[in-house]
Amino acid sequence: MLNNNAIVGVIGSGAMGAGIAQVAAVAGHKVVLYDNNAAALDKAKGNLIITLQKLQEKGKIADAAAIINRFSFAAQLSELSNCNLVIEAIVEKLEIKKSVFSELEKLVADDCVLASNTSSLSITSIAAACTKPDRVFGLHFFNPAPLMALVEVIPAVQTEPSLIPAAKALMQQWGKVPVIAKDTPGFIVNRVARPFYGEAIRIYEEGIADMATIDWALTEIGGFKMGPFTLMDYIGHDVNYVVTETVFQSFFFDPRYKPSFSQKRLLEAGWLGRKTGRGFYNYAADAIMPEANKDTVLGYRIVERVLVMLINEAVDALHLNVASAEDLELAMTKGVNYPKGLLHWCDEWTADKCLALLDALYHEYHEDRYRASALLRKKGTERERFFPAQ
Ligand code: NAI
Repeated sequence: MLNNNAIVGVIGSGAMGAGIAQVAAVAGHKVVLYDNNAAALDKAKGNLIITLQKLQEKGKIADAAAIINRFSFAAQLSELSNCNLVIEAIVEKLEIKKSVFSELEKLVADDCVLASNTSSLSITSIAAACTKPDRVFGLHFFNPAPLMALVEVIPAVQTEPSLIPAAKALMQQWGKVPVIAKDTPGFIVNRVARPFYGEAIRIYEEGIADMATIDWALTEIGGFKMGPFTLMDYIGHDVNYVVTETVFQSFFFDPRYKPSFSQKRLLEAGWLGRKTGRGFYNYAADAIMPEANKDTVLGYRIVERVLVMLINEAVDALHLNVASAEDLELAMTKGVNYPKGLLHWCDEWTADKCLALLDALYHEYHEDRYRASALLRKKGTERERFFPAQ
């Protein structure tokens, strides 16, 4: 039932749900958008109308009115009963998601398929709340959904296997770049990206460099669009810290994912980043932004340390079959706009150099956080590449 004619239901009309609903309607589907909060639904409706009209003015879509006519806005879950695909994007709480899925299942047809946009919960445990868990899978969009190309497609342990290629094909029809990720904490992006934040904070906590210098190094030398401190302030520490803590707990407290006190304290202080005017940086109109120390030797040291940790994470995800090498590269370039895929970056730096850098950190700290993936050790020792040389 995952074809162009599918009626798409979206549960939750917040930042993600409204964005996903927009993508589905622009792709030609009839969309039923449901929220249990009438004010949130009204706000989403108003914003969607404005957004689609602006897109028409810019020439990005031909007929905003026709797209708006494909929407219905539902105040009851039962109004999703004739949907063929329902995507859930409600609050990130397992028990609430489970009860919504179990209620939804009683309302829709047997061949309706159900997806969750969760960023950190197990798809398998959501599916377990259903009597037909084989029709449940993960469809993880990125924020803002209409602009970010990546969608992680996640089979639960119980998912009917043929559903995954069908979901992938549908996402391609929607103009998205789908990748398939194993149902493990953080899927691809939220797992592999952890060191971009965690190692940057560690460098700062050790006093090796200040935030402005670390941000400068990773943007100017590393080529990342935003430095880690600027990015964390932008995402908000309520979101970014909570993802880190959830991933850490879900990995049975693996020290590689250990959260930091610096970021936890910001959360406790209510310094959530840009949205509260203060996070790592102070955004008050009269605040003076700190200046970076543009010492290139220090800058390269910072980039090497953060990057080798990111590379190790990507290599380990490949080693543990979280995703294919191609999908890992797509995920990091399309989901978080990294300038290069991390496995290509490893090939460019060479696996033996990456392994040597990581082993030097391990030797210096004797912390499990710096242990090299078995696959990086093999590639480094045998001087192998992940992709053929161009
Ligand atoms: P949000 O807080 O902006 O929106 C959630 C909406 O769900 C609200 O409008 C709320 O009224 C509604 N809702 C809550 N419980 C409900 C229920 N029982 N029935 C119907 N509607 C209900 O949240 P956001 O940011 O859109 O996140 C939604 C989901 O998407 C979460 O699972 C989150 O982890 C995931 N996600 C969020 C991303 C982000 O950057 N914000 C990125 C990717 C995934």
